[in-house]
Amino acid sequence: MPESRTNLHPEPKTSSPYFVGLLLRYSTLGAAICLLLAGLLLMHGWLIVIGGFGVGLGIYDLIQSKHSVLKNYPIAGHIRYVLEDFRPEIRQYLLEDDKEQVPFSRQQRALVYQRAKNVSDTNAFGTLDNLYTHGKEWFLQSAISQPLKNKDFRITVGGERCKQPHDMSVFNISAMSFGSLSANAIMALNQGAKIGGFTHDTGEGAISPYHRKFGGDLIWELGTGYFGCRDAEGNFDPQSFAEKAVDPQVKMIEIKLSQGAKPGKGGVLPSSKITQEIADTRQVPTGQDCISPASHTAFSTPRELVAFWQQLRELSGGKPVGFKLCVGQPWQFMAIVKAMIETDNYPDFIVIDGAEGGTGAAPVEFMDNVGMPMVEGFLLVHNTLVGAGIRDKIRLGVSGKIVSGFDIARMIALGADWCNSARGFMFAVGCIQSRSCHTNTCPTGVATQDPYRQKALDVPSKAERVASFHKNTLKSLASIVGAVGLQHPSQLQPYHIARRLDDGQIKLLSKFFYFTDKGALLDNSARADIFNQMWVMANPDSFLANNDALIAYNKDSRDKGKETSAPTEHRAGYSSPYSSDHSIMTDGGQLIGNVNNTFRDYPPSSD
Ligand SMILES: Cc1cc2nc3c(=O)[nH]c(=O)nc-3n(C[C@H](O)[C@H](O)[C@H](O)COP(=O)(O)O)c2cc1C
Repeated sequence: MPESRTNLHPEPKTSSPYFVGLLLRYSTLGAAICLLLAGLLLMHGWLIVIGGFGVGLGIYDLIQSKHSVLKNYPIAGHIRYVLEDFRPEIRQYLLEDDKEQVPFSRQQRALVYQRAKNVSDTNAFGTLDNLYTHGKEWFLQSAISQPLKNKDFRITVGGERCKQPHDMSVFNISAMSFGSLSANAIMALNQGAKIGGFTHDTGEGAISPYHRKFGGDLIWELGTGYFGCRDAEGNFDPQSFAEKAVDPQVKMIEIKLSQGAKPGKGGVLPSSKITQEIADTRQVPTGQDCISPASHTAFSTPRELVAFWQQLRELSGGKPVGFKLCVGQPWQFMAIVKAMIETDNYPDFIVIDGAEGGTGAAPVEFMDNVGMPMVEGFLLVHNTLVGAGIRDKIRLGVSGKIVSGFDIARMIALGADWCNSARGFMFAVGCIQSRSCHTNTCPTGVATQDPYRQKALDVPSKAERVASFHKNTLKSLASIVGAVGLQHPSQLQPYHIARRLDDGQIKLLSKFFYFTDKGALLDNSARADIFNQMWVMANPDSFLANNDALIAYNKDSRDKGKETSAPTEHRAGYSSPYSSDHSIMTDGGQLIGNVNNTFRDYPPSSD
């Protein structure tokens, strides 16, 4: 069997004599000693310097005790660390496939760079995609397609209680804080937004002077730390909020409940990164870590959340107020919806962030294994609002690896009103996806507080790129909308997109995903019973699930002979509640029946 690095059954090597291994391990140190001796014999300055440096390094490697590789392979072991350091670059430049998403593919990044630089984004010779793989999606164009003159698609955000509705683009800059991004990056993004007439979300790190310099429209995001509007204990300070919120540059207010990359987790900006400027912006002291708690202190129940957004609405002079979340436990979102209905008070917008979203820093487990991905999260929110009969009162934004015209068109076809991009706009200001945002050593000056590194980011030229990326992406969106035979992306529907399934068949997205009927939740008549079950569990006075209501609902359903998705020993198997094929959903009860660990809602064993 050939020797292989992946061989799981290697034979122990006994043939090579011990001293050969020893020789190999110390050969580099030996070479350095020879070089030094030769230098001393010949009195050659360079040989002495190089050999001396090598011998010094080798001796240090031998006596240090931190790295066993260096102890065993003095001098030579450093090659490993150099290669490790450059691994991402080597991978990105030499090895990476055009389509490999890490997290954005080379093709996606190239598209953003081309559009940002205003160079041709067309390709020759046909698609590189395999159109016959499962999951592949495509728009169904119309026989009466038409080029669109107006490509600056806009929507108005602001419901009945809002006094200053905001007219905004369907493509905007997602939340990224000053602190996470450099001052120059923030300025380039905001100036780009100003040039292109779109909106820039501040992120939870408050409104910095760099957000204000060029006057681009802002969404002010309030996270759990209430940065920029907090008291000494870190609680929300209404007066401080009101002073800033009335600024005309602030167009909307966003309460951040959670973020896709790290939902349910607070954040820490280490004291080493807290410059005086960041401290002043956030209203936090220097010399200590800046903590964003895991949850809000301004409210603790769905009903209190409603009261909080109403307070923000009033303090801001009636600006649109909404919230951003990565969907977690569905009944909690439904509880908020019930609180809205009972108080007749709706947010002006909701932004749904997918678990695939980006961050400056988060634990891998959170990025990979906590929170709902964008499409499912969005459909949960959209379907709940439709099912509750209030979808038309609230605008929905969405984010999660959206960078192309197709990405935007697809989410708007599924029901979104607008799309946000964070990392797409980072690429536009020069990010090369080195994934070093958390180290303060960003090579392009985008995500660092190092004043020298961020100088590399030229604000005026990058602002132009931000505006061009936006403009050219909307142009691409317009060509898709026109090809489908429509005038505005809001006319796109799920049945305009086809998708290839595992078995090679194709399905329209209107059939592939489940869509609730209008008002169906109000009388528990949603075709997917799991929606009814989650709805009955939702409690406007608590984020905890109401298990008693679920038990009663399931019992009542069984008494009426209705098929419920409560589990029995004979029925098992999980199917996505978002799949349109709800007839096979037999395990919804198991999914949601024991959320507070107080009981198991299993029917009697005779069932
Ligand atoms: C560097 C960085 C910083 C971010 N900071 C915030 C933040 O302060 N508040 C927030 O709600 N989301 C934050 N996000 C998440 C983005 O706003 C966005 O929701 C997420 O990255 C998905 O969009 P994308 O896939 O286009 O990047 C941040 C993302 C990145 C990459």
